[in-house]
Amino acid sequence: MSTDINRSWQLSGFGLSRLKPAEGKVPEPGPHDLLVRNRAVSLNYKDKLIVDGTLIPDLAFPYVPTSDAVGEVVAVGSAVSRFKVGQRVLGQVIADWPDGDAPPVLHKHTLGSSLPGMLSDYVLFGEDAAVSAPPSLSDVEAATLPIAALTAWFALAEATKPIAGQTVLIQGTGGVSLFALQFAAAFGLRAIVTSSSDEKLGRAKQLGAWQVINYRTQPAWDEAALDLTDGLGVNHVLEMVGGDNARRSINALGADGRLSIIGLLGSMELSFPILPFMRNRIVVQGLSIGHRRAFERMNQAIEALALKPVIDKVYGFDQVPRAFEHLEKGPFGKIVIAGS
Ligand SMILES: NC(=O)c1ccc[n+]([C@@H]2O[C@H](COP(=O)([O-])OP(=O)(O)OC[C@H]3O[C@@H](n4cnc5c(N)ncnc54)[C@H](OP(=O)(O)O)[C@@H]3O)[C@@H](O)[C@H]2O)c1
Repeated sequence: MSTDINRSWQLSGFGLSRLKPAEGKVPEPGPHDLLVRNRAVSLNYKDKLIVDGTLIPDLAFPYVPTSDAVGEVVAVGSAVSRFKVGQRVLGQVIADWPDGDAPPVLHKHTLGSSLPGMLSDYVLFGEDAAVSAPPSLSDVEAATLPIAALTAWFALAEATKPIAGQTVLIQGTGGVSLFALQFAAAFGLRAIVTSSSDEKLGRAKQLGAWQVINYRTQPAWDEAALDLTDGLGVNHVLEMVGGDNARRSINALGADGRLSIIGLLGSMELSFPILPFMRNRIVVQGLSIGHRRAFERMNQAIEALALKPVIDKVYGFDQVPRAFEHLEKGPFGKIVIAGS
């Protein structure tokens, strides 16, 4: 590949049919930037919402989507001190959130939304918005971490602390949910996983699920979760769906339960009754991926636990539309784009 041509996939308007290959120049790193040659990119559900125009209706075109990538540092700006050429790095998606409280305006500097996305041969990361990739993971595996794994990690290990033996209900078997299942199992939490597919639930069991519920054949999955916990209710629910689904999530929670609002797979709104919040002293927390310090802690844990991300399928750089079509169907774990 020529070093001065940067291949990308660019949106010229909303809709997958308007996502097309494009060529541009390799960007020049500013004083605090890393120039990174991408090795693998992973897709998240929100990339579909951006491509179809739901998430950012006023997006400016042309636009390169996606947020998660692993690559090699090939050049550094004159003032860079945190990384060297040759290191393998991951982008910190909320680029201006190193630790602690969120920046005053969250998502002002976010990869793949307010900042350019990752579907290019070469991308720039600010040196403060990158972390070393876990050495034990392949490029394809490492590319899955920046949003899906960090969101799951933040919900289970940063926003609250895991207590072995407690129960967590995880909805679906997509990217965030399977990382949540793997972390939960590693922490000794008892994970109840819901899915539309018995076959996927069988695989979730192999990954360490304590109990499983098919939400298609058992639409009253909240009652099933209450039965599984002897009527007490679960300690923590990861809400991935929204709408009326959240009503069931609240019903499935026990005293001092926690509801982590993560996803909007079914609706852009939530609806639930107020009384159970008071009766059970329920804590609700909205999640927004996580900060860099949490990313570094998570990567350390991934090494210590020898955790391997679950990859549904890998597509080539020339197969990006097919990868997005797969995402629409509901993956088991992650979809990755790697190779030319
Ligand atoms: N707040 C944040 O920081 C944050 C970060 C990442 C993602 N998210 C959001 O979290 C959600 C999941 O993201 P993702 O990237 O992990 O998605 P994904 O990988 O595309 O996951 C899709 C999976 O969701 C499951 N699903 C769909 N409808 C469901 C329902 N009604 N009940 C239970 N499961 C259902 C399906 O699992 P089965 O096939 O097993 O049924 C499907 O495979 C999205 O809404 C995304 O926007 C938020």
